[in-house]
Amino acid sequence: QEGLAPTPMALISQYACKRRTSTDNKNKILTDAFEVLAENYKFSDNKSSCLVFSRAASVLKSLPWTVQSIEATQGLPCLREHTKAVMEEILQFGHSFEVERTLSSERYQTLKLFTSVFGVGPKTAEKWYHRGLRSFRDILAEPSIQLNRMQQSGFLYYGDISRVVTKAEAQALGNIIDEAVRLITSDAVTALTGGFRRGKEYGHDVDFIVTTHEVGKEEFVLRHIIDCFKKQGIVLYCDYQASTFHMSKLPCQSFEAMDYYAKCFLILRLEASQVDGGLTCDEGDNRGWRAVRVDLVSPPMDRYAFALLGWTGSTQFDRDLRRFARFERKMTLDNHTLYDTTKGEFLTARSEEDIFAHLGLEYIEPWQRNA
Ligand code: CTP
Ligand code: MN
Ligand code: MN
Ligand code: MN
Repeated sequence: QEGLAPTPMALISQYACKRRTSTDNKNKILTDAFEVLAENYKFSDNKSSCLVFSRAASVLKSLPWTVQSIEATQGLPCLREHTKAVMEEILQFGHSFEVERTLSSERYQTLKLFTSVFGVGPKTAEKWYHRGLRSFRDILAEPSIQLNRMQQSGFLYYGDISRVVTKAEAQALGNIIDEAVRLITSDAVTALTGGFRRGKEYGHDVDFIVTTHEVGKEEFVLRHIIDCFKKQGIVLYCDYQASTFHMSKLPCQSFEAMDYYAKCFLILRLEASQVDGGLTCDEGDNRGWRAVRVDLVSPPMDRYAFALLGWTGSTQFDRDLRRFARFERKMTLDNHTLYDTTKGEFLTARSEEDIFAHLGLEYIEPWQRNA
């Protein structure tokens, strides 16, 4: 109604699931800086400081205006002393000395480089750094290092999979999956999820949910799709994980825990001819194909809404949904279920809207979940 009047600060929630965050970030300079420090804390396994900076970045991403002074942030949630100090430096000098120092440190640069390889997490990166390794050449020349299959593929396809994936490439992969599914059943449901469902133009991979209306057939469909891809010769890497769903009981307490659904982490070969407008390749790269990271997950249909909500993200949005459920509603939420601890019962959901309603939250559209 007020149109241009900014939202009163008091109405901006500490929970990302009560904020609307589009991909249009008006405070990118500040949030990029916060995310560098968050990542650096993650490298030191300092989870709480990492979270402080991730949360501060998330709050600023939700603002429809650009922060131009510290005074303007009065009353905003999740901005601690440390984050305010960094913000003050940037507003005053155009950059933060702490961020500059981090960006130019050998440790940050090396860990950033190592974790950019598919299959290399902060733990492995730190181990290699600690042993004095500083470059890919160092790692590949070190005889005592045994790369696992995932890391070998990570190095082999490094150039391609470190390049962004476009929306057109994501759509092409969607068509390839739909075609494979059509060969066996008319009962299947496929959905693009992850960052592309949130309206992002680019991603680091493409995430899909594949399932069937008939509960229990979903894993069969996933295996069929992969067989089909193998016959087409487009599977460059495949890590298939069977469902362990039957073993699950209550929702798990840790956010980081993987879900129990059958899933597959893939690297696929995508042909230029399959993509509207062709591939986004480096100059002079005329191979006519590229490698792309693809994640497929197969929840049973009665869990579809929970899986969709979990796999759509963003990570910060999901984290706050779970936190809100636990602390404000005494409910536990994960990628499989919503459990009301007061009533001692599981709440069913056929859609994401149902889950928001159970939680007493206004529905937030996927493109407003870029927290
Ligand atoms: N996810 C999950 N379980 C996994 C892997 C991912 O629940 N085993 C969720 C993540 O929490 C995230 C979503 O799936 O919310 C998508 O993850 P990811 O592809 O890593 O991130 P995106 O948001 O899609 O961003 P990007 O463009 O970088 O891929
Ligand atoms: Mn993704
Ligand atoms: Mn990502
Ligand atoms: Mn993914």
